[in-house]
Amino acid sequence: MTRRADESRRRDADGREDLPSLRLSTWPKGWSLAIMAPVHVQWLSYGRNDHRLKVRNLVNAGNGLMATSRAAKRLLVIHYSQTGQLTRVVDAFLAPLKGQAGIEVVEASIAPCVPYPFPWPFLDFLDVFPESVYMDPPEMAPVDFDPDAHFDLVILAYQVWFLSPSLPVTGFLHSAAARVLKGKPVITLIGCRNMWLTAQAKLAEVLSERGAHLLDNVVLVDSGPAWSTFVTTPRWLLTGRKGPFWKIFPGAGIGDGDIRDAARFGKALRDALPSLPARPQDPLLRGLGAVCVDPRYIASERIGHRSFRLWGRVLRALGPPGTPLRRVVLVFYALFLAVMIITIVPITLLLALLLRPFLRNRLNAAARRLEQPSGSNRDRCAQYL
Ligand SMILES: Cc1cc2nc3c(=O)[nH]c(=O)nc-3n(C[C@H](O)[C@H](O)[C@H](O)COP(=O)(O)O)c2cc1C
Repeated sequence: MTRRADESRRRDADGREDLPSLRLSTWPKGWSLAIMAPVHVQWLSYGRNDHRLKVRNLVNAGNGLMATSRAAKRLLVIHYSQTGQLTRVVDAFLAPLKGQAGIEVVEASIAPCVPYPFPWPFLDFLDVFPESVYMDPPEMAPVDFDPDAHFDLVILAYQVWFLSPSLPVTGFLHSAAARVLKGKPVITLIGCRNMWLTAQAKLAEVLSERGAHLLDNVVLVDSGPAWSTFVTTPRWLLTGRKGPFWKIFPGAGIGDGDIRDAARFGKALRDALPSLPARPQDPLLRGLGAVCVDPRYIASERIGHRSFRLWGRVLRALGPPGTPLRRVVLVFYALFLAVMIITIVPITLLLALLLRPFLRNRLNAAARRLEQPSGSNRDRCAQYL
């Protein structure tokens, strides 16, 4: 926001020195005219691309023209990432917004006091599920932003752990710093394997308890087919190995192309932010394919979450993470989970397939509902991709 009004002077038809003028083709975005006195306004054309507005101050014949900058829109971006995947998504999303006149981006990475391991030892991985599901917050390190500062919009980027918001994000939502969300419009940005519906419902509930307004939801999921991610994602998280293997399994995680294309959301936001009202109600990221709900997975998530809550209650009753008896029960739980994944998930998928002709309309309607507020429509993608 550094350009100034063009102060070149010209002689008008009567030979009088012209008033300072503004070249409209170079008028910087986000600036507005404030006319401070009664004026005479005249439109002048000096050529095909050079049109000027001449403003004569009728009170003191001086330059009754002043350029003012609108206050910059302040965007707070809160994120956490273990492997760096979600950080890459956030970077791609924010790239079009950074360095833009009239937009200030404040990035805040959050962290628990005791970091979670990566790659995960097998039992440590399972041991976080009861607290994840019951959203028991871990203690968090102090945040590096001022929770009482003014922000026009908050982006909360998170990943899913056991069909729930990851524990560091739960920790933040229950910390004193979460007061920053009060009264704010929030865009949630999810990067996960592909089961995020329950997590988003839980997070949306907490956001509303904190007085925030969920404006948009953007979801990026692992690019491989769902059957393969049951193998590739745990392999990545438990060993750190992400690449394709055995010729049938693709690489784990969100594809590079999908991450790159997340820039479309930043571009759309860049265009929407300057005119963001104080209390925006309408989503800003519609028409960009922000989410896509597969109706076949709605039932699997519901069943999975019920079972997580049941086992989670038992495990929490046995003591905090790391308690020896809890670890023994966890081994049984691991066997149960393997049986669930091998049997219940395909059975519910098969049932969904058989019942599809009868349930199609209801499931599709449920999917469209779960895609709100941003939706799966892609009619603005051509403009921003
Ligand atoms: C403990 C744990 C549980 C997870 N559970 C789920 C899940 O229920 N659904 C899902 O889609 N992804 C799940 N994931 C994958 C994450 O959402 C995410 O894609 C992955 O951990 C990489 O995120 P990062 O940016 O933190 O590295 C889980 C990951 C971890 C570590």
